[in-house]
Amino acid sequence: MNLQEKLQRLEQQALAEIKQTDNLEKINKIRVHLLGKKGPITEILRGMRDLPKEQRPQVGSFANAVRDELTAAIAKQKEQVELILNSKKLEREAIDVTLPGVPVKAGTPHIIMQVIDQIEKLFLGMGYQVVDGPEVEEDHYNFEMMNLPKDHPARDMQDTFYITDQILMRTQTSPVQARTMEKHDFSQGPLKMISPGKVYRRDTDDATHSHQFHQVEGLVIDKHVTMADLKGTLEKIAQTVFGAKRQIRLRPSYFPFTEPSVEVDVSCFKCGGKGCQVCKQTGWIEVLGAGMVHPNVLKMAGVDPQIFGGFAFGLGPDRFAMLKYGVDDIRDFYLNDVRVLEQFSQKE
Ligand code: PHE
Repeated sequence: MNLQEKLQRLEQQALAEIKQTDNLEKINKIRVHLLGKKGPITEILRGMRDLPKEQRPQVGSFANAVRDELTAAIAKQKEQVELILNSKKLEREAIDVTLPGVPVKAGTPHIIMQVIDQIEKLFLGMGYQVVDGPEVEEDHYNFEMMNLPKDHPARDMQDTFYITDQILMRTQTSPVQARTMEKHDFSQGPLKMISPGKVYRRDTDDATHSHQFHQVEGLVIDKHVTMADLKGTLEKIAQTVFGAKRQIRLRPSYFPFTEPSVEVDVSCFKCGGKGCQVCKQTGWIEVLGAGMVHPNVLKMAGVDPQIFGGFAFGLGPDRFAMLKYGVDDIRDFYLNDVRVLEQFSQKE
C-alpha cells in the first residue's frame, strides 16, 4: 500500500468514526489524536522521506487536503453535537406554563378589623360619618367634656395611663363625641357619627382584660331623638353582628355622660335564649353600654340641650369577636400568632 492509499484509508476510517461520535470530549480526543504531532497523518508524512523527490509535492498536497477535510469534519460534527446537546438542555429546562402555580400566602384583615368593617358598613349605609380621633388625648376631652370633672369618683371606672397631668392615653372613644359636636354645624342638619379606634387602660392583662383594646363610639344628635331610636339602632347592630334573629334588652346602668344610661344585652346566639354556657344560663349576653346624651355634655360642646338631644353608645369589637367566634382569651388577638389569626381569613 503506498502512502496515498494509506492516507485514503485513514481518511475513510476517521470520517466514519467522527460521524459516530456524539460526545464533545471524545470528539476532542479524536482531534488531538488525528491531527497531533504523534498522530497517524504526521506518521504517514514522515514516510515521505523514502519517496522519490518528484512524488513528494503530490503526496504532500494530498496529505494536506486530507488533514483539512478531517479538520472540517471534526468542526462540523462538534457543531452538530453542540446543537443537539443544547436543544436537549432547553427541553429539560422548559417551563410548563399550564402547571398550577405555588399559591402565594396572602394576609387577611385582622379579625377585630373585620368586625369594625362590618359595623362601619352598617352605619355608612344609614348615613353616618366615620370619624377618627387622637389616641393620645387631653384629659379635657377624655374626662372633663364627658361630664367627669377632676375628682369625680367615676374616673376610677377607667384606670388611666397618664403622660402628663393633662395628657393621657384615651380610655374610651367617647372624647370623639365632644370633638365632633364642637365642630358640627347644626344648621346643616343632624350629627350622626361613629368612631372606631384603639383605647388604653391601666389593667393587668388576663383572659378578659387587655391594656389596649378597641371601641366603636356612636353618636346621634338631632331635634327629636328618642330612646326608641337608640333601641332600634342597637337592635340593628346586634342583628348585623350576631344574626338576624337576635333580640336586645336594656338594663338601667350608669355612665356620667348619658342619662338615662343602659347596659345592652343581646339574646344568646348560641342557644337562642334557652340558656347555655356562653350566656351563663341566662339566655342573654351583655354587649355594650349606651344612653341618652347628658345635657351637660351637650352644653360643654356648645350645643343647646333645650333644642337638641340624642343618644350615644360604645361597643367593644374585641368582645364582639370573642363572643362571635368563641375565643376565650382576648390576648389571642394581640399575640399575632399566624396560626390563630389565619383561622379568620376572609375569603371574598
Ligand atoms: N365610654 C363608655 C365606656 O368605655 C361606653 C359608652 C359610650 C357608654 C357611650 C355610653 C355611651 O365604658
